[in-house]
Amino acid sequence: MEPTHTASQQQAPQQAQQQAQSQSQPEAAVRPGDAVSVLGVDIGGSGIKGAPVDLARGDLAVERFKVLTPQPSTPEAVAESVREVIDSFGWSGRPVGVTFPGVVTSGTTRTAANVDKSWIDVDTAALLGERLGSPVTVVNDADAAGIAEMTFGAGRGRTGTVILLTFGTGIGSAVFIDGRLVPNTELGHLELAGHEAEKRASTKAKDDHNLSWHSWAHRVQRYLEHVEMLFSPELFVIGGGVSRKASKFLPLIEGIKAEIVPAQLLNNAGIVGAAMAARTAMAAQAETAGQAATAGRPEAADRAATRDSAAAPTAGAGSAD
Ligand code: BGC
Repeated sequence: MEPTHTASQQQAPQQAQQQAQSQSQPEAAVRPGDAVSVLGVDIGGSGIKGAPVDLARGDLAVERFKVLTPQPSTPEAVAESVREVIDSFGWSGRPVGVTFPGVVTSGTTRTAANVDKSWIDVDTAALLGERLGSPVTVVNDADAAGIAEMTFGAGRGRTGTVILLTFGTGIGSAVFIDGRLVPNTELGHLELAGHEAEKRASTKAKDDHNLSWHSWAHRVQRYLEHVEMLFSPELFVIGGGVSRKASKFLPLIEGIKAEIVPAQLLNNAGIVGAAMAARTAMAAQAETAGQAATAGRPEAADRAATRDSAAAPTAGAGSAD
């Protein structure tokens, strides 16, 4: 498959490789809050794009590399394309965060509305980990975009209920309560005028039905009214590629009580959020490993046992009562 990069993007992998070579090896242990290099990959219906992420700035460290999504978009074929992306940065063996356009629980992909159905119930984190030779974290694409926007973009510092909606091939959603994500909310599949909302109000629906901005904005408005009725958010963040054209449709949307703003990270939100999710997962693993090591020391294990039995009785203690 031909990478869809421009001449200037062709430089990026080499630069990244040089940069990767001049960087130290990945840390053996990652602590919460450590600055870690992570590569983010965004798997979409039409393209698979990725780049190493500067996690302090919430931006791409170098220009991204993109390939077309293979058709059919089976796990095997997509894994090969993801490998192509990470190889272009010489990244094998180092941490990778990957988005997926469907429900993801504990690394397993559970739904596949706009990709090949063979993704359902695949342990995608394990599959990609094996193919890439890297530790891989997998996260829903809208959740990834939301994580990035809440930290570095339109949702920064916002409390209460914030809902990011991505409009593209489908409609993705990320719901935050006081900055904390409720994962896999799938609000694009709510019913709207007797149809699945994403079939009526995604940008694909706009293109498929040749809708004017005005007609499409009306459908988006009806959809936002429905989501607002259910969740009463303080803020809607409108993401997806169409957020670049926010001035064409946001002014046409009326009657929504919540504030409505366009996403700020545009096309890179998924890549940045995937890398952030991978860093969080690594930090959690490192913490668990650290606790296990501490518990391995007899005096620490004793302290932990005393604390644990005080905090939560064991099943044995309970049955003795
Ligand atoms: C999927 C979601 C995804 C959204 C955007 C929907 O069809 O069910 O998981 O976030 O499309 O890609």
